[in-house]
Amino acid sequence: MSTVYLNGKYLPMEDACVSVMDRGFLFGDGVYEVIPAYGGRLFRLPHHLQRLQDSLDGIRIANPLSDTEWEQVLNELLQQNAATDGNKHDQSVYLQVTRGSAAKRDHSFPNPVTPTVYAFSVHIPAPDPDVTEQGIAAITLDDIRWKYCNIKAITLLPNVLLRQEAADQGAVEALLIRDGRVIEGSASNVFVVRDGTILTPPKGTQMLPGITRDLVLELAAQHNQPCREADIEEAELRDADEIWVTSSTKEIVPVTTLDGKPVGAGTPGPVWKTMIEQYRHYRDAVRSGELN
Ligand SMILES: Cc1ncc(COP(=O)(O)O)c(C=O)c1O
Repeated sequence: MSTVYLNGKYLPMEDACVSVMDRGFLFGDGVYEVIPAYGGRLFRLPHHLQRLQDSLDGIRIANPLSDTEWEQVLNELLQQNAATDGNKHDQSVYLQVTRGSAAKRDHSFPNPVTPTVYAFSVHIPAPDPDVTEQGIAAITLDDIRWKYCNIKAITLLPNVLLRQEAADQGAVEALLIRDGRVIEGSASNVFVVRDGTILTPPKGTQMLPGITRDLVLELAAQHNQPCREADIEEAELRDADEIWVTSSTKEIVPVTTLDGKPVGAGTPGPVWKTMIEQYRHYRDAVRSGELN
């Protein structure tokens, strides 16, 4: 039985309850983070806590915990679950802050209100060898989301519908097109490789500033790999040599078919192979404590 954190307490998941008047439940009024931990060490924690702060600022919720308190809570949760699952190694922590619950259902903010803070951790499975060898299928879909996609809001209904549409078509991810350009995936950032250069769309309010995305850019710069942030037209996506999607728990995943057609040679590309090695090298250095 896994332990969760809810409003200051650590308790078995099945004993954790929130009010039916919680604004997360009624309005999707909250934000979240997903943070991997390797060998019990939280990965890129300051970056995730900064993005959490930005998301909270974006929806006007005061951060209920200091960074030190977050770190203590998340580490305690990881330790408790490592003890019960015998799984000290790779877990990811999901944390969510909602505006809290109020006596009356009203769209405008209740005052005063205490945020609801919830977190749980789950095991990160080892990368699927089929994905590493064959890559995944993706489809393109119209980006039907709102104008503040930089906020990591729990209100994920468009992303849910888009991902399900991909699943219905036998694909793993949907790449979202807005104004003729690819923005990101339904739960991932997107990269393409064209003529040896790695490209990814620039940050803005249309996409989530992915922590994995930033690390890929950092590693590419460190290893002198040609890499640029640039708008990617749909036509450039369609004739890219390689396409990848990135996220904290899936790392860097090669997309080998797009809308049923092969991407490049139709197999994970050479630039991806170099990048995933660099990424795993960095991750393993965090896991062993050599880097933090
Ligand atoms: C819409 C969206 N974009 C990008 C990402 C990747 O972000 P990160 O690398 O921080 O996990 C996610 C992660 O879930 C996401 O939901």
